[in-house]
Parts: sequence; C-alpha cells; structure tokens
Amino acid sequence: MKSAEIREAFLRFFEEKGHTRVASSSLIPANDPTLLFTNAGMNQFKDCFLGLEKRAYTRATSSQKCVRAGGKHNDLENVGYTARHHTFFEMLGNFSFGDYFKRDAISYAWEFLTSEKWLNLPKEKLWVTVYASDDEAFDLWTKDIGVPVERMVRIGDNKGAPYASDNFWAMGDTGPCGPCTEIFFDHGADIWGGPPGSPEEDGDRYIEIWNNVFMQFNRTADGVLHPLPAPSVDTGMGLERISAVLQHVHSNYEIDLFQNLLNASAQAIGCANEEQASLKVVADHIRSCGFLIADGVTPSNEGRGYVLRRIIRRACRHGNKLGATGSFFYRIVAALVAEMGEAFPELKQQQAHIERVLKTEEEQFAKTLEQGLKILEQDLADLQGSVIPGEIIFKLYDTYGFPMDLTGDIARERELTLDEEGFEREMDAQRKRARASSAFGMDYNALVKVEGETRFTGYLGTTGEGKVLALFKDGAAVEQLHAGEEGVVVLDQTPFYAESGGQIGDAGFLAGEGLRFDVRDTTKAGGAFLHHGILDSGSLSVGASVEATVDASVRQATALNHSATHLLHAALRQVLGEHVSQKGSLVDSQRLRFDFSHFEAIKPEQLKELEDIVNREIRANTSVETQETDIETAKAKGAMALFGEKYGDRVRVLSMGGGFSVELCGGTHVSRTGDIGLFKITSEGGTAAGVRRIEAVTGAAAFAYLNGAEEQLKEAANLVKGSRDNLIDKLSGLLERNRQLEKELAQLKAKAASSAGDDLAGSAVDVKGVKVLSARLDGLDGKALLALVDQLKNKLGRALILLGGVLDDKVVLVAGVTADLTGQLKAGELMKQAAAAVGGKGGGRPDMAQGGGSEPAKLDEALALAKTFVEQGL
Ligand code: ALA
Repeated sequence: MKSAEIREAFLRFFEEKGHTRVASSSLIPANDPTLLFTNAGMNQFKDCFLGLEKRAYTRATSSQKCVRAGGKHNDLENVGYTARHHTFFEMLGNFSFGDYFKRDAISYAWEFLTSEKWLNLPKEKLWVTVYASDDEAFDLWTKDIGVPVERMVRIGDNKGAPYASDNFWAMGDTGPCGPCTEIFFDHGADIWGGPPGSPEEDGDRYIEIWNNVFMQFNRTADGVLHPLPAPSVDTGMGLERISAVLQHVHSNYEIDLFQNLLNASAQAIGCANEEQASLKVVADHIRSCGFLIADGVTPSNEGRGYVLRRIIRRACRHGNKLGATGSFFYRIVAALVAEMGEAFPELKQQQAHIERVLKTEEEQFAKTLEQGLKILEQDLADLQGSVIPGEIIFKLYDTYGFPMDLTGDIARERELTLDEEGFEREMDAQRKRARASSAFGMDYNALVKVEGETRFTGYLGTTGEGKVLALFKDGAAVEQLHAGEEGVVVLDQTPFYAESGGQIGDAGFLAGEGLRFDVRDTTKAGGAFLHHGILDSGSLSVGASVEATVDASVRQATALNHSATHLLHAALRQVLGEHVSQKGSLVDSQRLRFDFSHFEAIKPEQLKELEDIVNREIRANTSVETQETDIETAKAKGAMALFGEKYGDRVRVLSMGGGFSVELCGGTHVSRTGDIGLFKITSEGGTAAGVRRIEAVTGAAAFAYLNGAEEQLKEAANLVKGSRDNLIDKLSGLLERNRQLEKELAQLKAKAASSAGDDLAGSAVDVKGVKVLSARLDGLDGKALLALVDQLKNKLGRALILLGGVLDDKVVLVAGVTADLTGQLKAGELMKQAAAAVGGKGGGRPDMAQGGGSEPAKLDEALALAKTFVEQGL
C-alpha cells in the first residue's frame, strides 16, 4: 500500500465508526503560547479536551502535519541515525471528546490493524505496552482482544519522576495528559533491538506504531493533575512508520515517499544515493523546512524562526559533508512538491517562496561560515597551548552559527583539541538565559479556566448587557474586584472584539451600579473573552450584570483599516500574482500593516496601481457581505484562509466588491466599502527573505497624511521663495547653483593648497639622504591632497611624502614616493601602516597611494610613521 492509500484508509475506517474527518491544522499552533510547533494530532483539539470549546462532533479523525524539532518533543538530533525519527511527519489520529474511552479505543485500533478488510497485519508480530498501574487496559488487551501476556509489557515511571513515563503522555509541561497504551511492530530477528522496556529497546527491531492516550488530566504549572471534565481519547500513528510496515521495509527511509526525496537530494548534492546518514538528514529536513516556510515561518534569530534556521543549517552541513558545493538545498523543493503537493496544496502554491527563502538562507550561511573561519584564524593565532577554549567555540557557534563539529574538524587538522566541557557550560548558561526569556513556558491554564464561553455580540453594535462569569487578579480566579484593582473580567456575552486575525482587541468600559471598569484590551483564551483593565470605582463580583460599551470611534477607525487590508490583499494578488499570500497582519485604529510573500521590492508604479485599485473599490461603495458556513463550502467559494488562524466548524466568509475579495475572517468590518473613504500606502519594505511589508492608512488618517504632505510641500516652497507650482524648477535651479559653487570651491582649495605646498616643502627633513615630509592638512579631500603630493614630489626631488587631514570626522591620507626611490620604499606599503593606525584601510601603487580611517585622534601618530618607515626601509 502506498502512503497516500494508507492515509485514506485510516480516515475512512474512522469515518465509518462515526468520526468527523477534520483537516490538518497549521504547524504554527493557533492561540497557544505553550507550544513551539504543532507536535501531535491532538493540538488543535486541546481546548475540546479541556472542556473550553464545544464542537458539533464528539468523535474526530485527522492526518496532522507535525514537527518535533524543539520544545518537549524534540527528535532533531536523532534524525538520520535511526530508522524511525523525523523532524516532520504525519500523524494519523482518532479522537473522542468525552465520547468513547478505553474499550472502544483499543478495539478500534486492533480492528484497523489486523482485520482482513483493513491493514491485515499478522497479530503475532504486534506487542502492546500499558501504563504499569492500568489494569483496566491490561485486561482489555489480554481478555477481550486476546493478546498473549508474553507480548504485553507494563511500563512504569521509567523517566525518573511520578508520571514521567513512556506510557504517560503529555502534550507539554502543562495541558491535557494521561496514561497510554502503545502498539509495537516486530520487524524481525535480523534487526537489532529488544522489546519495549528491555535494555535494547532503542534498537530498530520493535517499533512503536500507534499510541492510544487515555486523556484524563490537565496538568497545571504547579505539577498538579486536575481531572478533565470527561475522560477522552487521543491517538497517534506515524504515517511513515506504518507505511514501512506495510511496504515490508525496515526503515522509514525506504518507503515510497522517501525514496524519491533521497534520490532528489543525492542529485542536488551531486553524490550517489548509498544510504548515507547525511543524505537521510537532508531528505528529512527538506520536509520540515518546506512545510514550516509554507505555514509562515521564516528563518530568524529567535523562537520558531531560530529552530527553522538551525534545521536548514544542519541540512547544509550534512550536504557539505557529502561534497555539495554551493547552494543545493532549495533545489530539492521541486521533488518535495511532486511528492506531497497533492495532499498539501499549500506546498504547491508556495513553491517559489519556499525555494527563495531557502536559497537566501543557504547563501547567507555560506557567508557566515566564511566569516567564522576568519575569526577562528585570528583566535588561533593568539592561542597559547593546544586546546581551543570553550568560550571561543561557543562564540563561533552562537554569534557566527559555526557548528562545533566544524570547529572540531579544523582543530584536528592543526593537532589541537576542543574544550568540549567548557563549550557545554556556555551552552547551558545560554539555555538558561533562553528559557528565562522565552514566552513558550507560559502557563496557559493558570491564566484562565472558565466554564462556558463568551458569546460575541459586537458584529451588530458596540454596546450590550453581559453577566460576569469569572474574574481574575494576578492570574488567579477571584470572586470580587475592588476599586483601584487591575484584573480580567469574563462575560457571558460581550460586544468587545478580542484580539485575533491581526485585529487588535477593543477598548472601552463596563458599567454597573456604582461601578466602572476601564477596559484597556480584550483577548481570547479558549472560548472565553478576557477584558483586561482596571476597576475605576465601586466593586465588581462574579454574577453581576454590567453594561458593556466599546469605544466606538476607535472600533470604527479599526474597521476601516481591517476592510482596507482585505482589499489590499486582493489587489496584491491582481498586481503581483497568485503567489502572494499573507504572512502576518496588524490592524489598529491608526494604520494597517500587511506582510506577504513576494521576492522583490515593489516598484513605484505597482504601488500606485495598488492604491488605484483599492481606491476604485472604495468609490464603488459596494456593500460588505458576511455569511456563516462550513469550512469546505467556504473554501469551494475561493475564500482565502488566513495563516496561523484557527477555524472552528462554522466559519465567517467576508466578501467585498461583489467577489473582488473573499476571505475567511472573524473581524469587524465596515458595512460598505465607501466607508473606508481613502486609502494611502505610507511605506513598503522587506522584513525577511521573501517577505514584504506594506503599511497604509485610511479614512481620516489618510486625509491627515496627505494634508501633512501638502503642508511640507508648502513649507519647502516657502523656504525657496516659490510656490507649489514652481517648486521643482526652483529646486533644480538651486541644485545647479550648488554644483557650480562646489566646483569653484574645489578650484579655490587646490589653489590654496598649491601655495601651501610651497610652504610645506620647506618643512621636509633629511633622513639618510631622502627628503621626508609628513604634514597635517585638515579640510582637504583626497583629490586635493593627491594634487599636492604630486606637486611636492616635483619640488623636492628624491623624497617620500605623507599627507593627512580630517574631513567630515574621517581621516584622509595620501602618500607619494619619487620614482628614483620606489625600488626601496613603496608608498602602498607605507599607506597600509598609516591607514591601519587610524583604524582604516589603504593601499596603492609604489609611487602613489591613498587611504583613510575613522579615528581622527590617531592621525598625528599615523603621520609620524613616515620617518620610521624611511629609517627602517633604507
Ligand atoms: N498524542 C499522542 C502522541 O503524540 C497520541 O503520541
């Protein structure tokens, strides 16, 4: 069976068992600060397990894209060296939210794996583990299913702490968790390895293919396990592993999908495909990198972008090991698209973007390596002893991205060794710093645990009644807030928009009997809307009724910007092409900011065209339509889904200009496009490789912006005593006059210098029969000094001259040597020394050289070098 057929069979099986098929979510977890990347099928259902979100179904099945290259579940270092670890993989899963539990989960898994109609695996090759104390699961397996006790293994807390066990699964340090039962496949005695729980369990003989987690608890940051509202099921089967089993191969890298990627990798590198670990690393990494970039991550120095950068660099290093010269990694993208683009259209759509990002990053890494090598050379020149200290290895690694194994290679060539312990110490300190500053450790659960959800009433108006469901102070639930206290209010319904989809949260106030709560910001946690602010007066208790009032003018200004963002997005696709996809957006009452994939600066005429299109749509003044529907219908209508957004079963489709723009969006918008008034782009630039950013203003802000420009124009006209109409002529005239004056000035300076030359000639001193002249002349440029040196050479005969001066805070230097002396004294060499002395560079011919530097204070020192140069050179 091909991987694609296995994926389909799994989803169909569970559909037949009453599960709803749910699409894979983005690799960037939506609204979950505890998670770096989506690492399991259950991530998108986290709030369903916690009881914070209700969906139309209680059984779901999915094939989820996952990346395990950072955070709690990290396989990066294993990749390439085992048969079964990947940075990117697909996880097949079935889920029950308070519906079925252990008995059905176990029997479904067994039926799918072993029944003739489905995978038909030989039962005697399957082993099963359960959590040590889970007698219920043990009995279900042995008595109901009939797995012989010899192939059952109980696994306790084998990771050194209570509930730290291979058979107790947790998504992260906090969140849903529970005991699990895992199914292993025995690949046969000719592969090394032992059954789970044995000392040889890390071998590749017994491979875990399916994990069934009995979700029962929510772990909070204090380590306490709170029972979930209802026992649930979360399962995960790696598609690549089960494909290996069904294709009768013993390594994931031998399955259909990977064979093509390995061949393409070998071709791009220019080596043979001979099962090298490095080649597997490259073939694996192109998947995580391709998918991460398609989902909106770009290489950077922090967070997700940093992990992506590390994966790309690891791939480059392994490619280089195999002999790659120049950039090769981006060339494998085409094969990835051919292999997986059908199941994941985002890859196909973003192919050009992915290639460009990877190519840029590879080129940059090559430069980084070159720079690192130079630094290493310098450090080695100063090295005493034969050990490269940890600080140097770390500095190279941290600042120049120079991998330790490369430093090791170079050390070996020079018979040096590495202080690896010192390096580890530095790394440890770095990790501690990173952890301290990372936002990914935040305790989501401590923030809010609210029964029920907030209903949003703000599409229809900006005021409304609400009842207080919960109150929080300093992150903890309280019954009451008192005057002067800061806190968070959760209402059963609210007109306040909570920050999402790039639109900032609403501000305003809540009022009730003798109380007023100023709302500064509104955010979302699960289904609850959090009103952040301060209680101005009175006291506020859970259960109280309040009148909520949104600051309507801010909301309206924000709506103009949000609606204009949609028009801009559609216009961008018209002007630049369909490859444009949203990479980020920020909409507030002042302006809009839109980031999107595109590989070059946008030309001025294109910017104008964008403005024209958007303003035409505004003037057309069509009504803005919204429609609630299910996600599939919405996509069929061509609605653009936004990056990083999480969509429930029901989505809101927003259309403008009779189909000109159709997007999924939960934001608040204008009712007619004409409300936007005016659209003006204020800036365009790049933010990362392949990502551009446009900022723009609308409505009154756009008008004010243009007015401001007009004011400046008037002021400029006043300054040159002209008017708007003749400003350009006036300015051209002034510039021309300026050029002429500069010319005259230069001539005058040369004249002055020439007479200065006469004076200077007298100050030359005799050193071993050579006239040596060094002098300081501030305010002259290189050209004037050159002319002067020429003149002095003629005047002095057998001579060496070094002139220097300060111009605009920079040092200018010129040196000359007469022709009869250039055999022994070279101006270029003197210049190298003199320029270095002022912190700069210089050089030239033996008879004439030029240079400069940035340290004027050292100029006199540099000039003094002339004499010593002659003394030593003759
Ligand atoms: N969430 C479980 C896992 O990832 C199924 O193994």
